[in-house]
Amino acid sequence: MLNFEFYNPTRIVFGKDKVAELARLVPPDARVLVLYGGASARKTGTLDEVKAALGARTVTEFAGIEPNPTYETLMRAVEQVRAEKIDFLLAVGGGSVIDGTKFVAAAACFDGEPWDILLKRGSNVQRALPMGTVLTLPATGSEMNNGGVVTRKATQAKLAFSSSHCFPQFSVLDPTKTYTLPREQIANGIADAFVHTMEQYLTYPVQALAQDRFAEGLLQTLIEIAPGALAETPDYDNRANLMWTATLALNGLIGAGVPQDWATHMIGHELTALYGIDHARTLAIVLPSLMDSQRETKREKLLQYAARVWHITEGSDDQRIDAAIARTRSFFEGLGIPTRLSGHGLGREAVDAVVAQLTAHGMLKLGERRSITPDVSRAILEAAL
Ligand code: NZQ
Ligand code: ZN
Repeated sequence: MLNFEFYNPTRIVFGKDKVAELARLVPPDARVLVLYGGASARKTGTLDEVKAALGARTVTEFAGIEPNPTYETLMRAVEQVRAEKIDFLLAVGGGSVIDGTKFVAAAACFDGEPWDILLKRGSNVQRALPMGTVLTLPATGSEMNNGGVVTRKATQAKLAFSSSHCFPQFSVLDPTKTYTLPREQIANGIADAFVHTMEQYLTYPVQALAQDRFAEGLLQTLIEIAPGALAETPDYDNRANLMWTATLALNGLIGAGVPQDWATHMIGHELTALYGIDHARTLAIVLPSLMDSQRETKREKLLQYAARVWHITEGSDDQRIDAAIARTRSFFEGLGIPTRLSGHGLGREAVDAVVAQLTAHGMLKLGERRSITPDVSRAILEAAL
């Protein structure tokens, strides 16, 4: 029986040259901190465009939010926010910059040690500074959701948080901003959005007919646009579809009222924290193996996925499931993303290390049925060697 609350206050301003709209979107009297990553925002000219649009407002910058943003770096931004009495944050970048900015927004208003926000998964966030984003990398959906993932370098802990106070007020999505992305990042974005959709879809049926069809539509769109997205010359319509599909994959809509898995993400986060593998690439290692491991609990949805997404209708139930898993694996491989630990030079030692970290982080009952214990995670990773 469907029964849920759905809330998403983020305004999306989508299209070419929309960065100029910041002039209207950011409060006129705001003291703005613009946060960004390494060199890309400056090199691509986006930072200059942003500053031009902000006009006469008081604007300062915080540079250097790294991929998989660290607590250590973000706390320096919190100090700057406090010292400069900043009252509006503007993230310019991909998921890492946006996630990091959400954390800064919450941490700047937090009483006590802000790492507790991660330990409590965000449930202790009472307030956050208002923020907006200019998205330069379609992948995470962070531009239209209330979650973030932060890594503590000192302990190699990569933990997620979410809070209703951490939605961006607005996000500017200009597909031409993706033109400077290297091919690997485009591939990552497609894979990440694909897995976000799968983790809210591939569970068990709950008569959520629209959510299912919508999720299948997003998966099929990603499959359809992948070759064009990886082509040498970027195409506006292709990138626009990629950008909006990635946003829709994790803005709450397909997840409304349905069981969700997220085990692939939790196992993947440990792989990134330990070995520095790009987020999306960790997911491509875990998901096909997890689908196989969970074929009994996910049986009905696996068959639905096989039929509706890949049009696999011949053979026994298990043959169709096998074929759907194989198609999923070859989809990732076709993006140039390895689906085995060995593809990253890792072996059995990595399995032990990841399982130890999952256990240390309390990831003892993952999956929509809470059936993925550390032993099951071990089996999933061993099958992905
Ligand atoms: O640092 P710069 O120089 O800006 O370079 C970045 C970075 O090296 C570069 N880049 C971004 N836009 C560019 C560009 N290069 C050229 N042209 C552009 N237009 O891309 C590199 C990767 O950026 P990053 O932000 O790290 O990638 P992504 O968007 O994939 O974000 C990954 C992070 O998001 C988290 C992940 O765990 C990871 O930490 N996630 C956040 C989620 C959420 N908030 O809902 C959900 C996701 O599952 C994910 O866990
Ligand atoms: Zn992800």
